[in-house]
Amino acid sequence: MAAGQCLLGSCFLAGFIFGLVVGLPDLNLRAVVGQIFVHELEREGFMDAFPPSMDDSESPTDVPITFHCNLLDHPDLPRWLRYIQRTSFQTGYLYGSATSKDVGKQTIEIKAYNRYTYETVKQTLIISIVPSTEGEMPYQADFLVKNCDVEEVLPTDIQDLFQQAVDSMWEQEGLTLINITSALDRGGRVPLPIENRKEGVFIKMGSKDPFTECLTFAKSPSNLYRCKLEQEPVITCYNSFSPRFQIDWCNLTLIDLTRMNASETVPIYGDGVLEEGSEFNPPEDAPDRIFFYDFLLTFLLPFLLGLLLCLILGYIMCCRREGVQKRDMKTSDIQMVHHHTIHDNTEELRQMASGREVPRPLSTLPMFNVRTGERINPMQSSRQDSAQVPLIQAQH
Ligand SMILES: *[C@@H]1O[C@H](CO)[C@@H](O)[C@H](O)[C@H]1NC(C)=O
Ligand SMILES: *[C@@H]1O[C@H](CO)[C@@H](O)[C@H](O)[C@H]1NC(C)=O
Repeated sequence: MAAGQCLLGSCFLAGFIFGLVVGLPDLNLRAVVGQIFVHELEREGFMDAFPPSMDDSESPTDVPITFHCNLLDHPDLPRWLRYIQRTSFQTGYLYGSATSKDVGKQTIEIKAYNRYTYETVKQTLIISIVPSTEGEMPYQADFLVKNCDVEEVLPTDIQDLFQQAVDSMWEQEGLTLINITSALDRGGRVPLPIENRKEGVFIKMGSKDPFTECLTFAKSPSNLYRCKLEQEPVITCYNSFSPRFQIDWCNLTLIDLTRMNASETVPIYGDGVLEEGSEFNPPEDAPDRIFFYDFLLTFLLPFLLGLLLCLILGYIMCCRREGVQKRDMKTSDIQMVHHHTIHDNTEELRQMASGREVPRPLSTLPMFNVRTGERINPMQSSRQDSAQVPLIQAQH
């Protein structure tokens, strides 16, 4: 039993170490400046490279795999290259369009993670970036495809489909696909997860031949006006893109590099931009600034106002209490005042009562005979015992 565990443990350890060093053979790829470069990170190739799972019954046929790509010895990818993988069950893509600054060899490291076991597989891509033999394409058109996400147009067969569609509207040879960009990278919004909405993707095509009327008409003044009113612009020729690709003709950009002057393309820097290689020297003759008055204003003024309010409140609380005129009155004095008030009030009530004009009700008078209504002077009848007065006199 113990030997079995030990064996299992060493297997894990071996698997762990194996998992760190395992890698796929290096790949040599070629990218051309000014043309789209796409590399698919296929899950199958990496999946086979993962060390076999210990527990075969649990090993699922479809494991989630994610990738991490970076330029060798750098944390991230080079500027021209982008990476996308929608979910861990889908193919990952490296794509981008190199510029003439990137010419040379670039080494990209790819790490694939098995999200169940956290084993990793490495692969190295060596991308040779070469200048285009055809030179720059002077006529470029940027199409916005509304009904696609970026990874849906990256496979080569879809690229070919798109190119054919462009071909029939811009009849000529030598069309190149220059760039593919997700609309999200150009200020687009993440769509709501309803109705199969897509992010949208910009596809830039280039050619040496000028635009056809069909394309330029999409940018005519009348169509621009229609776009402003959010109406569909009118296309003079057959729209060969639909229904596979829905082009947003309002967002079509036509770039004619031949018409641009050299001065327009070269950015002109204003003063305040440092010369390359120079250092920033801060000015030394900055005048001294005195902050004393600012201090007075910001600190002393509120402080004095607060003090004033405290004094006013203190005076009201201590010296202006109702009924207390003198400052140092003792408790016994206060009791005396209380007593006198009760006494005075009683006296006043008595005076008011004696000064009443109406006769007092009989029942309130002393010695009142209920039956006869006779009033007896209490002083006279004081000796007669009221208990001996006959109740019914006629019975005698
Ligand atoms: C391709 O598109 C990306 C994103 O808009 C942009 O940063 C890059 O400069 C473009 N590359 C070329 C060669 O036009
Ligand atoms: C398309 O163009 C309209 C205006 O013409 C703009 O408001 C919108 O943001 C553009 N869409 C994208 C994805 O750039």
